[in-house]
Amino acid sequence: MKAAIIYHSVTGNTQRMGEVIAQGMASVDGTEVRTFPINAVDFDYVKDCQCVIFGSPIYAAHITGDMTVFLQQSGKKLSLAGKLCGAYTTAQYIHGGGTQGIQDMLTHCLVYGAMVYSGGSADGSPVIHLGPVGIDRSMDISTFDETFRIYGQRMANQARLLFH
Ligand SMILES: Cc1cc2nc3c(=O)[nH]c(=O)nc-3n(C[C@H](O)[C@H](O)[C@H](O)COP(=O)(O)O)c2cc1C
Repeated sequence: MKAAIIYHSVTGNTQRMGEVIAQGMASVDGTEVRTFPINAVDFDYVKDCQCVIFGSPIYAAHITGDMTVFLQQSGKKLSLAGKLCGAYTTAQYIHGGGTQGIQDMLTHCLVYGAMVYSGGSADGSPVIHLGPVGIDRSMDISTFDETFRIYGQRMANQARLLFH
């Protein structure tokens, strides 16, 4: 199963948390995963993927303008139809808009015909309803590593179930 994580990151948090998700995915047997910033996506690789995860910082309780432009201008080139997709964000505040940003990216995925998934509460603790949110500055973002790693494992396991 091939997977990609595509993120926008200015100060490094969203890149870092994408790499933690990738570690979790890579721990699932038979998974190949690569991470890409939005300005250096290997579209040929992503076309061959069964699972694609998007990550954005939260700006003003939204995903960034750059991420919105990427999804709307380059989303079609990712061939998302029928793929399993997920999303995560990083933000400064617990109530700063993290899950709204996830919903926005998942909505773009639906528009392109993808299936969206997080695991929700079906796998118990940690419960991740829409996708993981990492909080920086007001908290130590590394305290979210385990949740992001487990999220990566769950996404890869579900993709393997669907596409084995
Ligand atoms: C212009 C700007 C707006 C931001 N707006 C929010 C916000 O509305 N809510 C929030 O929780 N954090 C906000 N943040 C904090 C970032 O989302 C947070 O630092 C994020 O982890 C940065 O990701 P990056 O290191 O990958 O660039 C904002 C940061 C900037 C620079």
